[in-house]
Amino acid sequence: MSRKPIFAANWKMNKGPSETEDFVKSFLSKVQLQNLNCDVVIAPPFVSLAKLTEALHNHHGIQIAAQNCSQFDSGAYTGEVSVLMLREFFTHYVILGHSERRAIFGETDAVINAKIKKAREANLKPIFCIGETLAEREAGNLETVLRTQVNAGLEGVSEKDLGDIVIAYEPVWAIGTGVTATSEQAQEAHAFVRSLIADLYGPDAAAKIRIQYGGSVKPNNAAELMACPDIDGALIGGAALDPQSFLDIIRNGTAAE
Ligand code: 13P
Repeated sequence: MSRKPIFAANWKMNKGPSETEDFVKSFLSKVQLQNLNCDVVIAPPFVSLAKLTEALHNHHGIQIAAQNCSQFDSGAYTGEVSVLMLREFFTHYVILGHSERRAIFGETDAVINAKIKKAREANLKPIFCIGETLAEREAGNLETVLRTQVNAGLEGVSEKDLGDIVIAYEPVWAIGTGVTATSEQAQEAHAFVRSLIADLYGPDAAAKIRIQYGGSVKPNNAAELMACPDIDGALIGGAALDPQSFLDIIRNGTAAE
């Protein structure tokens, strides 16, 4: 089963509209997107979505993601953004369940599950993040944590909808720390997540679903990680803020596939 790798830049709370425009100009000047045999996604802050859409106008090779969405349709939810609003910006993907949303903003598995279903109603493709903390790993709870997050996050999600979901395995201890999971640790976790999908949806769905790795991915470790059989791309934070570094990760990572 060959799965098309997907490289996504999660800019987190970085880059307003003008920096977004600068990034896109620089990135597009360096690359012929049709030569990259992978999906490339950029997730800017909400306020930069319009500028990203505009700056990419004729470049269909880059897809747009939001970093969050509301689980509600509309109404009295101050500060929230609905999936239909995101569709207006030609948004394709939405990152859901990121460990920063879980830890800092208190998002539970149930909220994440509601958001995944809401995203699918609007035909947005969730990038569904899961991952354990260092304490959970050291206590021997890696598999329990991942099983709980996967089972609860995908509760009631149809096999058809699963086909439009990407999973991102992001060990919390590797995010923004410069400590990357070794390729053995990452491969082991990815293979386990794929087995969880097989338990829930069967072997065909498990073989098809793309599972990205995230956590201190850099140009110099992308090749080794992406060479692992169950790793299908990367979700990149800090190293995707610079166009050359994002591109080097994509190039090094796809050469390894
Ligand atoms: P870093 O690449 O900065 O470690 O962030 C990873 C991440 O959280 C992507 O969603």
